[in-house]
Amino acid sequence: MAERNPEPLQKKLSDRLAFYEDLGIGLFYRDRGTAVAPGIEQGFETSGAASRSNVSPQEEPTLPKRALKPELPKVAHVVPPAAPKAISLPLPAAGPSLFEAVNKIANDTLPRVREDLGECTRCKLHKGRNKIVFGDGNPKAELVFVGEGPGADEDAQGLPFVGRAGKLLTQMIEAMGLQRKDVYICNVVKCRPPENRQPEKDEVATCSPFLLRQIDVIAPKVIVCLGSVAAQTLLETNRGISQYRGQWLEFRGRKLLATYHPAYLLRNPNAKGEVWKDLQKVMTVLGLEAKKGKSA
Ligand code: URA
Repeated sequence: MAERNPEPLQKKLSDRLAFYEDLGIGLFYRDRGTAVAPGIEQGFETSGAASRSNVSPQEEPTLPKRALKPELPKVAHVVPPAAPKAISLPLPAAGPSLFEAVNKIANDTLPRVREDLGECTRCKLHKGRNKIVFGDGNPKAELVFVGEGPGADEDAQGLPFVGRAGKLLTQMIEAMGLQRKDVYICNVVKCRPPENRQPEKDEVATCSPFLLRQIDVIAPKVIVCLGSVAAQTLLETNRGISQYRGQWLEFRGRKLLATYHPAYLLRNPNAKGEVWKDLQKVMTVLGLEAKKGKSA
């Protein structure tokens, strides 16, 4: 006889419930003590030091620890009718614009961008990489996530956000009522920086035109920058992410919102509530409702 709740499904459900609980949403489940798979009491395996193999961004501010979970609106109320307008904050430029000179290429496509990138040796990052991590997902996505750069797992597989931070990003996407295949995920730099250091200015400058072309081709409604490297690159600013995190900004006429990097959340689970609020803003603009737990 088939098992009613096969192990992978059971774990998936438990992870999902733990995620909602972490976000302060406890609508579906009173006592998950008996249903939680062993070893995930914290949800997302957030306890312990985050492995550096795949958890790079260190730049996000250390937020004050909160004793209480954030008060969040109930899931059923997350889609108010009107979407906010993106605003352009006067963010001081980090230097000469990386993007002004990049004109929209007529009839550009993702395969063409990938072909132009080729087996890239334009910057020194190529020396240590195994695989180029171009990007992955729906080429017509309404929502694009931009991270910093590949880590060890991504470098090995050639896919973005497949390590621990990636697992958390997947859970965030699913909590928004989407699947990874619905969105597009890419990074500022396409090759893994050695020791997971932050990409350097020249590396960002060399790789950015490809990111820009990806965004232009996909033409998403919303761009979510994960962490300060992505935000500072697209917004061309030196300002710390906490100054504009969660605010609607604009990138070449598109709505852009910066939030904390999932790797930062692995080290600072208390910030998950802030990120969930940011994602709810995105959901509002995209007309999405949070996915309800299956055990409700
Ligand atoms: N961190 C990133 O910024 N990008 C990835 O693809 C993986 C981890």
